[in-house]
Amino acid sequence: MKYSVVIPAAGQGKRMNAGRNKQFIMLEEKPIIVHTISVFQSDEYCEEIVLAVNEREHDEFRSLIQTHELTKVTQIVTGGKERQQSVYEGLKALDGDKIVLIHDGARPFFTHEVVREAAKAAEYYDGAIVAVPVKDTIKQVDELEVKQTIDRSSLWAVQTPQAFRLSVIKEIHRWAEEHQIVGTDDASLVEMNGRSVHVILGDYWNVKLTTPEDLIFARAILREKKESGM
Ligand code: CTP
Ligand code: MG
Repeated sequence: MKYSVVIPAAGQGKRMNAGRNKQFIMLEEKPIIVHTISVFQSDEYCEEIVLAVNEREHDEFRSLIQTHELTKVTQIVTGGKERQQSVYEGLKALDGDKIVLIHDGARPFFTHEVVREAAKAAEYYDGAIVAVPVKDTIKQVDELEVKQTIDRSSLWAVQTPQAFRLSVIKEIHRWAEEHQIVGTDDASLVEMNGRSVHVILGDYWNVKLTTPEDLIFARAILREKKESGM
């Protein structure tokens, strides 16, 4: 199942507190974004990658792509103020009706298997997301008082990649922009549009690198992968 990819990388990484966009933080001699793109670069089913970046960081991203020979990155577009806008800018750069995967630049530990499964599911459903069952007990809290404990058996933590038919997700982003609808991920826009989203079981390695301690976990994952030859 061939697919194209949009990678939003235009954030500021405020919660990482690194003083710059977290995409450039080095993990074992390569910036986070290079790890992420490399997984797609090495998947034979990936046809092209559109990267959405901050206006001021075009040159830096372009030079990383050249240095690391990430030849599947065919376009670098300027992202927007919010992730949703960055994704939409990326989607607008693609034509035709193909399967498109949307994947966070800050999520480097995903597999070809999960990507391919998501791409395949997008043929049959309006959208497909990768997710894992939540491990913690989740409570609803208001002003430090517990309101209720939510039944965990039906709760899943959502990751990327998320896969869609390009025409569907582009149209839904257009609709969301027109009606000023904001979703926390791309699938939520599809859901709000009354369509069906399929879930693919992912794994707990696929963390989004968000706060500084996530980097400790990331370096441990890389060490483990190296030692076990994964
Ligand atoms: N992103 C984007 N455009 C934005 C905001 C976010 O392309 N305007 C991207 C980020 O670069 C990241 C992904 O969306 O790859 C997930 O967002 P998040 O983890 O929140 O990253 P940041 O927004 O950079 O971090 P923070 O929220 O801590 O500032
Ligand atoms: Mg953010």
